[in-house]
Amino acid sequence: MEQTYVMIKPDGVQRNLVGDVIGRFEKKGYKLVAIKLLLLTEEQAKEHYREHVGKPFFPGLLGYITSGPVVAMVWAGKDVVSAARKMMGKTNPLEAEPGTIRGDYGLDIGRNVIHGADSVESAQREIAIYFKEDESTSYEKTIEEWQY
Ligand code: PPS
Repeated sequence: MEQTYVMIKPDGVQRNLVGDVIGRFEKKGYKLVAIKLLLLTEEQAKEHYREHVGKPFFPGLLGYITSGPVVAMVWAGKDVVSAARKMMGKTNPLEAEPGTIRGDYGLDIGRNVIHGADSVESAQREIAIYFKEDESTSYEKTIEEWQY
């Protein structure tokens, strides 16, 4: 099953948006297979955003992304990489459509609440930065007698 890497950035954690963001992915129908709250090391942040090293916004991005805890997650399901990007909206929250996470909650490209991998290859690379193989959980959604 396709997997993507999604990360609630420090501003999303500070603004108590964790439950809302997770709820959107759950309600859409995707399956959470790994999650952790962590403070990114400078090394992890540089590896994650390595294609942007040297760009004018990079020092600001590095300072921001390491400024507080993030929620690192792996979500699985049909076309989850592109669907997650649609659910997030455009990188600049002022250009993101209402109804998307950034469109609903953001104003500043430097505080845009959430990150999502832009391709299946990026997702695999990013998942490996934050999760060891045994930290992803394989499970079936079950229907038990206590569910109606
Ligand atoms: S580029 O140059 O067009 O490829 O860059 P872009 O895709 O717009 O952005 C790449 C990631 O950098 C983040 N970004 C910023 N962070 C902090 N401050 C500023 N000014 C800034 N500009 C861009 C942007 O949110 C992208 O991060 P992710 O986590 O992938 O959304």
